[in-house]
Amino acid sequence: MKLRKVLVAGAGQMGAGIVLVAAQAGLQVTMIDVADEFIAKGVAGIDKQLARAVEKGRIGAAERDAARGRITTGLDVAAGADADLFIEAAPESLDIKRDLLERAAGALRPEAVIASNTSSLSVSTLAGFVTRPERFVGIHFFNPVPAMALVEIVRGAATADATVALARGFAESLGKTPITVKDSPGFVVNRILFPMINEAARALAEGVASAADIDTGLKLGANFPMGPLALADLVGLDTTKAILETLERDLGDPRYRPCPLLGELVAAGKLGRKSGAGFFTY
Ligand SMILES: NC(=O)c1ccc[n+]([C@@H]2O[C@H](COP(=O)([O-])OP(=O)(O)OC[C@H]3O[C@@H](n4cnc5c(N)ncnc54)[C@H](O)[C@@H]3O)[C@@H](O)[C@H]2O)c1
Repeated sequence: MKLRKVLVAGAGQMGAGIVLVAAQAGLQVTMIDVADEFIAKGVAGIDKQLARAVEKGRIGAAERDAARGRITTGLDVAAGADADLFIEAAPESLDIKRDLLERAAGALRPEAVIASNTSSLSVSTLAGFVTRPERFVGIHFFNPVPAMALVEIVRGAATADATVALARGFAESLGKTPITVKDSPGFVVNRILFPMINEAARALAEGVASAADIDTGLKLGANFPMGPLALADLVGLDTTKAILETLERDLGDPRYRPCPLLGELVAAGKLGRKSGAGFFTY
């Protein structure tokens, strides 16, 4: 199937990012959310990014206008029912996703592929909410979407090969590099990344080195673009703790248990960059 039209549910940081890269790749995109104010916020973010790309000379004004012209908005899946691909980027709540996926399955054409950008929910569980689970797949983008090159294509228990192929082709058409991953807690990246962040927090709690020296160690000794503690502050320490708890619960292994220091910082309201302080002060 030739992919021409994409419907994205959720105009938040991930949804608006997906809409932007898809429109820039030449696809027709409809972005929906539950209220006009969220749509307006998402559209304002897209306009800002396009304006910055023009300022920096990465694209011309004509390209900006063409991309912008390919984006339409709405408040219900009906606004993009003729889409070839539906991606939900709504909040990480099973109830919200269930409702949205059921409505999408009812509104879209039977041959459309339905996808979720979930970072922690089971793709096989979500596939149970649509009528054709073989045409359901996880398409996990990274934040911020325009800057991050990776997309994890998550194969649920029933996902067909053709669906995986379409999702991979979609990611490649956006200039991203897809990797195919089995439906498993944390997929590949978060499963490996978050235990490392946890270990950095443990080393800090044990007084192995200062936060700055731990991060300098990993930046210069492992060639990381940013240290694990600064990365945790960027993700948010509450989110970091929640991801580790999910890994511990779903993989049934205590080695993923969040370090007590993480819990203490979260309890003290030190959530990282968004609250002004975490492992570092901002
Ligand atoms: N933030 C990240 O770093 C990141 C990275 C990868 C994946 N994800 C996943 O992407 C999804 C969205 O995360 P986000 O960070 O963009 O959240 P967000 O809170 O920024 O945006 C969610 C948007 O969905 C809207 N929404 C709520 N209910 C809806 C519905 N029924 N229909 C349509 N829209 C609805 C909200 O109004 C909001 O605008 C989650 O599943 C999250 O786990 C997030």
